[in-house]
Amino acid sequence: MKCKVCRQDAVISLRAYNSALCARDFISFLENRVLKTINGYRLIDSNDRLLVAVSGGKDSLSLWYILNRLGYHADGMYIHLGIEGYSDLSLEKVKKMSDMIKRPVYIFHLKDAMGKGIDMISKKIKRTTCSACGMIKRYIMNRACLDKGYNVMVTGHNLDDEASALLGNFLYWKEEYLWKKGVELKEEEGHLSKKIKPLFLCSEREMAAYAILSGIDYIHDECPFSVGAKSLLYKEILNRIEDESPGTKLQFLKGYLKFTRRLKLEKTQREMKYCNLCGYPTAGEKCNFCRIMEKHGISGGIGFEEYKYGDLLNS
Ligand code: AMP
Ligand code: FES
Ligand code: ZN
Repeated sequence: MKCKVCRQDAVISLRAYNSALCARDFISFLENRVLKTINGYRLIDSNDRLLVAVSGGKDSLSLWYILNRLGYHADGMYIHLGIEGYSDLSLEKVKKMSDMIKRPVYIFHLKDAMGKGIDMISKKIKRTTCSACGMIKRYIMNRACLDKGYNVMVTGHNLDDEASALLGNFLYWKEEYLWKKGVELKEEEGHLSKKIKPLFLCSEREMAAYAILSGIDYIHDECPFSVGAKSLLYKEILNRIEDESPGTKLQFLKGYLKFTRRLKLEKTQREMKYCNLCGYPTAGEKCNFCRIMEKHGISGGIGFEEYKYGDLLNS
C-alpha cells in the first residue's frame, strides 16, 4: 500500500476517502481537515478566546495540540471527577500536554468542591453516573469559560461520537435534542459560552492514528462507568455499516447538517429562565447544578486550580 501523495509506504488506509497515506502526509491531512472544518463552518472568529475541554483522551488532547499547531491560542480545562485509578492518570496526561504546548490548564476538583466523587454524587442524586457526570461537566465547562474570560468552549467530540449520538436520538425520536445537534452551539451573552466541535468530521480511528503518530501520550482506557453504554453499541453498529460501505458515517453527519441548516425550524416557544443563584439557563428557578450543591450543603463559588506548565497556581 503506497501513500497517495508521495508514493512512500503508507501507514493508514482511509477507505472513506479512497486513499492511503504515509505518517507525514496523514498528519497534514488530518490537521488540514480540522482547519477546513473550522473555516468551512466558520467556527472561530479572529477575536474569540478558546478554552479546550480536555479529558486526557486521544481526541481532546490531539485537538488542543492541533489548535495550537494551527496558530490558535487555546488554553485547557480539565474536570477531575474523582474516579479511582482513572481521574489521576487522565490529569497526568493533561498536564503533560500542557507542558508540551506551553498553555495553561484550569483544573476543577469535584471532590474538593462537593466532598464526593462522581460515583457517590450520582447515587445521592439518583441518576446514572453518566447522566450526573454529563450534567456536571456541561455546567463546569461553561462556568470555566465565563469565569476565566473565554467565550468559546471547544470539545473533542469526533465523528463516531456524533454519529452514535445522532443515531440514538433518531432511534428514540428524542425531538428535543434531535435538531439541536450540530458542529456549533451559539453563545448567549453572560449565560452560555459558544460551543464548538472541530473534530466533528474526524473519525475515532483517524484520531487514534493521529495521536500515536504525533507522539501524544493519552489515556487509552475508557471511563469505567461507560461499560455497557448504548453509545458504544451504536458505534459498533455504525462501524459494521462503515466496513461494508466506507464513507457512510461522514454522509450521515454531513447530510444531517445540510438538512438542519435548510430546515426552517419552528423554535419551541419556551420562555427562557435563568437560575436565580448562578444565572445558568434553566427551566425552573434554580439550575440542576445549584440544586445539587444546595442539597449537599455546599455554598461558595466554584474554584479552579491553574496549572501553568510546571508549577501550580491557585486562582
Ligand atoms: P465524552 O463525553 O467523554 O465522550 O467526552 C466528550 C468531550 O468532552 C471530550 O472530547 C472532551 O472535550 C470533553 N471532556 C470529557 N471529559 C472531560 C473532563 N473530565 N474534563 C474536561 N473535558 C472533558
Ligand atoms: Fe463521566 Fe465516565 S466520564 S461517567
Ligand atoms: Zn445555578
